[in-house]
Amino acid sequence: MNSPLLELKGLCSTVFSEDTDQQIPILKGVDLTIHTGEIHVLMGVNGSGKSSLAHVLMGHPNHQITEGEARFHGKPIQDMESDERARAGMFLAFQYPHTIGGLPVGTFLKAAVEARRSEEVPFRVFKRELDAALDKLGISKEFLGRSLNEGFSGGEKKRNEILQMHLLKPTLAMLDETDSGLDVDALKKVFHDVREYANEDNALLVITHYDRVLDYINPTHVHIMRDGRIVKSGGAELSKRIDEEGFEAVLGVEASV
Ligand SMILES: Nc1ncnc2c1ncn2[C@@H]1O[C@H](COP(=O)(O)OP(=O)(O)OP(=O)(O)O)[C@@H](O)[C@H]1O
Ligand SMILES: [Mg+2]
Repeated sequence: MNSPLLELKGLCSTVFSEDTDQQIPILKGVDLTIHTGEIHVLMGVNGSGKSSLAHVLMGHPNHQITEGEARFHGKPIQDMESDERARAGMFLAFQYPHTIGGLPVGTFLKAAVEARRSEEVPFRVFKRELDAALDKLGISKEFLGRSLNEGFSGGEKKRNEILQMHLLKPTLAMLDETDSGLDVDALKKVFHDVREYANEDNALLVITHYDRVLDYINPTHVHIMRDGRIVKSGGAELSKRIDEEGFEAVLGVEASV
């Protein structure tokens, strides 16, 4: 088998709490290996550390790795700044996308594409790619003139994250509850597009609470997180069991946080 795209061994982290001015332990030994060509789904009760894991991997400044190993393309991510990780092919579609008043979506996307490629992209070239992505995702051009996420509906924010993914073409796309806020038709369309994006040269890490998402993306691996660790891994059948029986029954422990 080819070398892993992402390899986590005993990864521990803390988050800085601005309320208490303290570092709070969150990840408590995450082991996870992702190869290209794979689609991983991460499930788990609220507060188990799923979003934190994604933030740690992207290099969010409030999250610190305290122990363990995290390698992307074989390189320790601790040695890489956030923007370097993005340039190397990591992408996170946020659970709660940020709003930036006064920054038009089109301007933001062009800057993001140029940052990812470390070069200026002529407007003509960018426009061609953008038009193709808008067409594919069924997003109106009017969207581009609006301030980033300002006044966007929940579903529009999520679709904007997926538009970014299509333009940035990451090798590891992490989607944090992209399904939440989407109506049933949008869910089907967005995850059909996500599935089409996946190929032998990239990998997905999809965080979700809902088994129905798995019907669209057909994952190769499903993991369950609890209290800062991945405590169970399997195939799509694992999410069916969670959906039918709940975390408590499947994990054999109390699932409440
Ligand atoms: N900035 C912060 N300050 C304090 N606690 C934090 C901070 N960020 C995360 N946490 C805590 O870390 C734990 C894990 O949170 P995280 O958002 O990773 O959970 P999650 O698995 O994504 O949950 P959900 O399914 O609800 O999205 C929670 O107990 C949360 O309150
Ligand atoms: Mg979360």
